[in-house]
Amino acid sequence: MKTFRLQLRFLVPLVIILAATAYLALPVMDKLTLRWFARDLDMRGALVANALSDSLTDALQEPRGRRLQALFERALQDERLVAIGWCSVDGKVLRHTQRFPDSLTCEEAREVAAGKDAELHIEGGPVHVSFHTITGEAGPAGNLVLMHDLSFIERRSQQTRKYMIILFAILGASIALVTVVVAQLSWRGWVSGARALLRGEGLVRPMVPAAPELAPLAADLRQRLRDLEDEYRRAQRPEDVWGPERLQALLRTQLRGDEVIVVSNREPYTHEVNDGELVVRRPASGLVTAVEPVMRACSGTWIAHGSGSGDRKAVDRHDRVALPPGQQDYLLRRIWLTPEQEQGYYYGFANEGLWPLCHVAHVRPVFREGDWEHYRAVNQLFADAVVAEARSEDPVVLVQDYHFALLPAMVRRRLPRATILTFWHIPWPNPESFGICPWRSEILEGMLGSTILGFHTRFHCKNFIETVDRYLEARIEHEHSTISFGGEQTLVEAYPISIEWPSPEAAREWPSPGQCRAEVFERLGIPHAHRVAVGVDRFDYTKGILERLNAVERMLEKYPEWRDRITFVQVAAPSRSALEEYRSFRERIERATERINARFGRPEAPVIRLLAQHHEHEEVNKLYRAADVCLVTSLHDGMNLVCKEFVAARDDERGVLILSRFAGAAREMPEALIVNPYHVEETADALQQALTMPPAEQRERMASLRSTVHEFNVYRWAGRMLTDAARLRLRQRVSERVQRHHAVD
Ligand code: G6P
Repeated sequence: MKTFRLQLRFLVPLVIILAATAYLALPVMDKLTLRWFARDLDMRGALVANALSDSLTDALQEPRGRRLQALFERALQDERLVAIGWCSVDGKVLRHTQRFPDSLTCEEAREVAAGKDAELHIEGGPVHVSFHTITGEAGPAGNLVLMHDLSFIERRSQQTRKYMIILFAILGASIALVTVVVAQLSWRGWVSGARALLRGEGLVRPMVPAAPELAPLAADLRQRLRDLEDEYRRAQRPEDVWGPERLQALLRTQLRGDEVIVVSNREPYTHEVNDGELVVRRPASGLVTAVEPVMRACSGTWIAHGSGSGDRKAVDRHDRVALPPGQQDYLLRRIWLTPEQEQGYYYGFANEGLWPLCHVAHVRPVFREGDWEHYRAVNQLFADAVVAEARSEDPVVLVQDYHFALLPAMVRRRLPRATILTFWHIPWPNPESFGICPWRSEILEGMLGSTILGFHTRFHCKNFIETVDRYLEARIEHEHSTISFGGEQTLVEAYPISIEWPSPEAAREWPSPGQCRAEVFERLGIPHAHRVAVGVDRFDYTKGILERLNAVERMLEKYPEWRDRITFVQVAAPSRSALEEYRSFRERIERATERINARFGRPEAPVIRLLAQHHEHEEVNKLYRAADVCLVTSLHDGMNLVCKEFVAARDDERGVLILSRFAGAAREMPEALIVNPYHVEETADALQQALTMPPAEQRERMASLRSTVHEFNVYRWAGRMLTDAARLRLRQRVSERVQRHHAVD
């Protein structure tokens, strides 16, 4: 019905136009036909006059004019001839037939005949008048006036009019029919196209080329959907998202306020002596970034190696210091290590053995007996500290990372009722790779002292379970992802780690992206017209920094339009520099930087700005906000939190993230440009794509990434682990009660 009404809107004007055309065209047609016939009649008149001329000159000889009259009457037998008149040379009507008007003079007849239509109205209807001079042997004999019937012209004109009307009607009907059919077809196309749009088809990808006229509509709808999506995200209730309050509530209710003890090698804050002053620093460590906010929410005690030059100055007599500075939400208990212990446990076994063993970065692990001894001794030292710090027999102990593979079993022996959650922040290799570790069984047994063993991804969990299967006599229940070993059960689960999502109050304090840009450009002397890409890492061979520099170089070779139009800022915090592998890695990066700057930079505007020093989070955040692109090209990474920090910093929904497929984060962040960092061409192309990405696409990708990181934040990570811990503690209590009942019975 609607379609019909719409079509009427086309048809009514069409009919009106056709009728008006017919109305205007018909009189013109009449006039034209009349003129054609007048010319015809003139010719006909000339023929008649010619035919009569001889007989006329003869008849004029007869003085009474009877012969002339008879001649005229005969001629009148032609039905188209209505009247005939004979004018003398001096212009007098001498003879005429019956219907010739008495009042008509010869002069008037001549004038009418010379007129445009030569038409005259006499009794009985309109006539056409023609005037012919008849010449005899002696010169002009007189003039013949012929009056032709025009009524048949009228009849013919009426017929023509009838045909014309029929013609116009057929024409109109045909046009209307074609219009209706075409309108119907295209309307159906439009309707199904629009319906498809509303269903979302063709919104993400460009519309099918068959309906290009729908492209603007698709663009509008896309925009509107994006707005609605954003509104929806904003309208989501805050209690749906994990935050410190929800974590605290979980601790209060499900864990009944039990104490939480964290153990890690790296401390959340170091105290350094700088020009005789004691300054506090946040170390560059993904572990610290993630665990510190959780600890602020949980309170409790954090046990870590006191490695800062001013650390001893900051602690009380129990080696404790309340943190964060000025807030004092939790206690840090510092453990002191001798240089030999640090060398053997930290640099040696942890960072020359386990670190390269677990990362596929093609650096050979080194295992030394002496390092192993130190590793074991330091694990025991920290385990003793856990026991000493515990105020109950069943604390919740959160063990962090590869520095403490032996500690869970050590704590379990002393505090059998403790709930030990061990989180492995780095990847876990396949059984063959792990098998080269001379102390593989001891490490696995130590880790299986945990109640829960967490990795970033399912893939790492699977590798671990397969490794246990290969090297230990343990019972594995794949269905529940648990391992039973030595009478204890360990749940092996994936808990993807994340960051603390910045609070709206904190984000309001940030300088705008424009201000950040101005500040960064000013501080680093970057030319105004330049685009900026950033990388933020520790100086570590697993981070793919060299591959990243090579990609920037290749991009400038391949896309010369970017020469002198881009600066790549690489923040590289010094890390583990006592190790030869790290020192030579740093030298390689410095050489590559020099080479690329010599090829494509100017002394006052280098392409690569290598900032090889510690940066506070605030400065890094400014850099993230100032950047057009952020590159995370790890060769192998448990999760990587730099990519999540970049996303959290971009509340303007601009900027592009390039992310290595070998970082755990790639599984959660598919809206980034995912690359294989070993493939220089692919990374160079991704950089070009990032630099030319339209703002709308940046916005779409960034909004989605932000919503993921916002929801899957670090409180959720801790919350999920602690919920599992609470469930297992409840189960343990129930089974203890049941056993007690049995004992009494
Ligand atoms: C990785 C490890 C952390 C470590 C961090 C920094 O993220 O998983 O345990 O803290 O690197 O390394 P560093 O040796 O300086 O603590």
